Amino acid sequence: MQANPGNAIGVFDSGVGGLTVVRALMERLPFENIVYFGDTARVPYGVKSVETISHYTREIAEFLLQKQVKMLIIACNTMAAVASQVVKDLSPMPVLDVIDAGALGAIAATHRKQVGIIGTPTTINSNAYARAIHQYEPDVRIFSQACPLFVPLVEEGWLDHPVTRLTAQEYLKPVLAQDVDTLVLGCTHYPLLKPLLQDVAGSGVKLVDSAEAMAEETAALLAELKLSNPQRNQPDYQFYVTDVPLRFQTIGERFLGRTLSNVHVVKW
Ligand code: DGL
Repeated sequence: MQANPGNAIGVFDSGVGGLTVVRALMERLPFENIVYFGDTARVPYGVKSVETISHYTREIAEFLLQKQVKMLIIACNTMAAVASQVVKDLSPMPVLDVIDAGALGAIAATHRKQVGIIGTPTTINSNAYARAIHQYEPDVRIFSQACPLFVPLVEEGWLDHPVTRLTAQEYLKPVLAQDVDTLVLGCTHYPLLKPLLQDVAGSGVKLVDSAEAMAEETAALLAELKLSNPQRNQPDYQFYVTDVPLRFQTIGERFLGRTLSNVHVVKW
């Protein structure tokens, strides 16, 4: 199958969180068409088994490939951690995932080679970030912490709330005690907590936002494969979800940083 530069980039996540990646892509690549898929009916994935996550991931990747996307981006850290091979095996199009992008971002950011990783329990238990970082830099020391309460707190909109601050202090305590100089935000939801997390971690700790790292990697790959869209028109953005939950619009727009339109509900 030959990829067409005018075709859209397919981005997917377990829910609305991946819109942080879409937002970074819109800013970095303003002429690219994007098709987004958020599995809002089955979110959260971060506490599900590898088998279930792999099965869902396959369904989503197949759906997007039918939309003729020129590239697939696994925006969900949890899917990238345990099911990226599933996508790579079935996709004739190039596949990028946030973990690889975040790993490269961490290596670029760390001076003392002391890196903290935060994410969902499945992402942290998979050890995928450590593997990805060590593949490039074996002597980086890694300290991981699962932060399961962050996803519901962000969905609730408590981005700068005393409860979120206390929770962050509690979660980050053991990681910060290891004197890390870099902290990877290894979950789609965490970039929305960036100001609060920076405050709790202190100015000596560099936060790596995997959404931004992902946008950089996408731009580089599109250029390398000569797949950048040559058109300079207003791009087309389409959003597919499996359910429209209460407050979907508000949460989605917070993640995206702009009005959310062209939302379609997919019934499986
Ligand atoms: N999208 C997930 C991630 O990046 C967080 C939400 C979930 O648990 O599904 O890990």
